Amino acid sequence: MQDVTHLLQSHRSIRTFKDIPIEQSIVEELICSGQAAATSSFIQACTVIQVSKGAKREKIAELAGNQNYVKKAPVFLVFCADMHRHQLACEMHKVPMKSGYTEQLLTASIDCALFAQNVVIAAEALGLGICYIGGIRNDIAAVSSLLDLPDLAFPVFGLCLGYPDQNPEVKPRLPLSLTLKQNSYSQHKTLNEADKDDIAALEAYDQQIREYYKSRTSAQKEMSWTEQISGMLQKEARPHMMDFLQGKGFMKR
Ligand SMILES: Cc1cc2nc3c(=O)[nH]c(=O)nc-3n(C[C@H](O)[C@H](O)[C@H](O)COP(=O)(O)O)c2cc1C
Repeated sequence: MQDVTHLLQSHRSIRTFKDIPIEQSIVEELICSGQAAATSSFIQACTVIQVSKGAKREKIAELAGNQNYVKKAPVFLVFCADMHRHQLACEMHKVPMKSGYTEQLLTASIDCALFAQNVVIAAEALGLGICYIGGIRNDIAAVSSLLDLPDLAFPVFGLCLGYPDQNPEVKPRLPLSLTLKQNSYSQHKTLNEADKDDIAALEAYDQQIREYYKSRTSAQKEMSWTEQISGMLQKEARPHMMDFLQGKGFMKR
């Protein structure tokens, strides 16, 4: 048990990999570990597309904002939320599929995240390093057509895998008081009082993150967590997403 919690709490994203290939049998073992994750109503709505090195991978790296490690990682996987085969299941039984529900978008995306995180833990247990790549959603339509994704399927994120060629420090997470609440969000206080406690905890965490960035060996920056988040939230968040998802047959009701 301690080994497992130690492994989980030692996670850090890896963006530089050794030029050592990963055996395909290991990739398949990782995918089997992903498949073993719990899945909403047994829908098994995740399909993984392994993209080998070459022109297609390079195009995806470029579309993801020129993330070089997407190009260079020994293995690159794209996790797709996929309800296409559910349509096939309905056709096999000659029943019309009721699709387009926002609930189905949620369940398929949740399935993908659980599947992927199982892959990640299995990979890290084998000494591999990983980096999720949400950047593939910058131009989700282009990535989808590169991968020939049918309606009712879309790429949720990519994942770089390889043997680490760097050893970054673990990034401190939010304090427990902010992420574990007892019985109600404000824990029997008014929301205003609870927010004051949370702001005090955020200020302490900001200090910790500022020190983390300052002391970190690579890519020094001086920024607190709330600065980082408030900066990010001044920008639009991939505003093309709703139209794209509706075009793929999701989020219509
Ligand atoms: C869904 C998802 C998408 C992400 N997308 C990217 C990405 O496109 N590029 C990148 O360098 N890191 C990406 N990350 C990694 C996060 O930046 C990283 O997990 C976070 O900063 C915490 O750092 P740590 O993983 O080292 O603890 C992503 C993480 C997740 C979970």
